[in-house]
Amino acid sequence: MTSDWENYYKETGLRAPRQTLIAALTRFEKEGSDPDESHAIDLGSGNGRDTAELLRRGWRVTAIDSEPAAIAGLTQRQDLPEETRLNTILGKFELVEFPENVNLVNSSFALPLVAPEDFPDLWNKILYSLIPGGRISCQLYGDKDDWRGNPTITFFSHDGISALLNPLEIEFFEEEETDGTTPRGKHKHWHIFHIVARKI
Ligand SMILES: C[S@@+](CC[C@H](N)C(=O)[O-])C[C@H]1O[C@@H](n2cnc3c(N)ncnc32)[C@H](O)[C@@H]1O
Repeated sequence: MTSDWENYYKETGLRAPRQTLIAALTRFEKEGSDPDESHAIDLGSGNGRDTAELLRRGWRVTAIDSEPAAIAGLTQRQDLPEETRLNTILGKFELVEFPENVNLVNSSFALPLVAPEDFPDLWNKILYSLIPGGRISCQLYGDKDDWRGNPTITFFSHDGISALLNPLEIEFFEEEETDGTTPRGKHKHWHIFHIVARKI
């Protein structure tokens, strides 16, 4: 699995940041929030596709990933600004302690990679770490995804997503169902919810 992730990082790490992150950052900018005063957690950061964008925009970032190659790849990136406020945590996001009072929890294509029995505590931990007005930008998987049934991944029905997001203000919501290829070259039916939501 480790070498699989390493290939994934090589393949995707330098691509443009995810649209959900950009959608969240655009909203912060419109509110006039100061990046110097802003702290994001990037859960499942990989080698920094989104973390790099946050750092370039002047945010402080806590990047969390359980793969040593992800954290090594992130800290060795050549495209980070000279002055960065980056803290990395090597560990499983369902187990590590999150910083408090953060403005954004970003988790691109990583948050579902946790067993369903661990997801509720993880979600509560995310909500607790955010200040009021803070945002979550993430992908979650729907129950028509080809990987459904894998006990290490959490999937949501429409009702499940509605209940999960009910306490939040939904700012961006896109449901995607496509037949495609994974970055590792395997055919897959994707069922993905792309989400930006604000803690009230
Ligand atoms: C599909 S990659 C996404 C990487 C990056 N966020 C992106 O958008 O390209 C998922 C990442 O989540 C990490 N990951 C998966 N499960 C995790 C867990 N339970 N705790 C911490 N990191 C995890 C993997 O090591 C991997 O780097």
